[in-house]
Amino acid sequence: MSSERKRVRKAVLPVAGLGTRFLPATKAMPKEMLPVVDKPLIQYAVEECIASGIENVIFVTGRRKSAIEDHFDFAPELEHFLEDHGKPELAQMVRDISGGIHFSYTRQNEALGLGHAVLTARELVGDEPFAVLLGDVIMESPVPATRALIEIYEATGQGAITVQEVPREELQFYGVISSSPGKIPRWGDSVLRLNDMVEKPKPDAAPSNLGVSGRYVLPPEIFDYLDQTEPGAGGEIQLTDGLRALAAKQGLWAHVHQGKTHDAGNKLGFLKATVELALKNPKFGNEFRRYLKTLEL
Ligand code: UTP
Repeated sequence: MSSERKRVRKAVLPVAGLGTRFLPATKAMPKEMLPVVDKPLIQYAVEECIASGIENVIFVTGRRKSAIEDHFDFAPELEHFLEDHGKPELAQMVRDISGGIHFSYTRQNEALGLGHAVLTARELVGDEPFAVLLGDVIMESPVPATRALIEIYEATGQGAITVQEVPREELQFYGVISSSPGKIPRWGDSVLRLNDMVEKPKPDAAPSNLGVSGRYVLPPEIFDYLDQTEPGAGGEIQLTDGLRALAAKQGLWAHVHQGKTHDAGNKLGFLKATVELALKNPKFGNEFRRYLKTLEL
């Protein structure tokens, strides 16, 4: 266990991937900037950070990703234009995008895997615990998924990751965990002791139906484990390997997500997320529902 327990203030958002599952849309445009209903995918993750009390978001970017920096930067010309044209509410919306938190950027020169992307943020994170959020996963729950992990870290001094129940036939696309009861009364069955995990198992080799869903709160020691991880296929450094070492040496919790997860990083998942979130939209959700009902499905 970490000797010193620090507050979780920083979050790493890796956005340097090539988005190959989304071609041709992602040839020139970052996957994380694809809009789901009315805002880019990555903004959902940043809003989750803000709602979770994060103060500093660190983007791990790559080539062709400058639209992400622009999106979270100040836009004084646009704000003045909207003010001058009688649209102060839109000007405020533009100002609110960055939510008053601090943004930093570092570059992953080659997309060598999620573990490598997290390791790239080492200097900016420093010697403190931090969150990791995958920008192509939107998570909905009364308590934000990252907030729940931070609370577990702050109560135990150990890292925690979000898992969710996954239909058996889809487990092959996930990291799948094996676990034992967490035995922390405050969280009941929703917090488990993570024993091990397997990346993308064959359907009959999955150790459980709990898949890793893209939210993590980790102690800084994870950087040492990632540093020692041997690159796998394609020279990639997998976050899973670092997490397995962390679980074995320091302990790691798994929090079973108490809400909805939208994996919008592939085309079908993106379409489902778009429809489900559009149906919930307070302005046009009802009209959209009526429209869907007119379709011969
Ligand atoms: P994904 O595997 O979903 O994204 O990684 P990808 O690699 O861009 O997509 P495909 O598989 O080619 O379609 C989850 C997140 O991690 C980032 C991605 O940008 C994405 O937001 N990532 C992935 C990195 O930052 N660096 C990497 O080397 C790999």
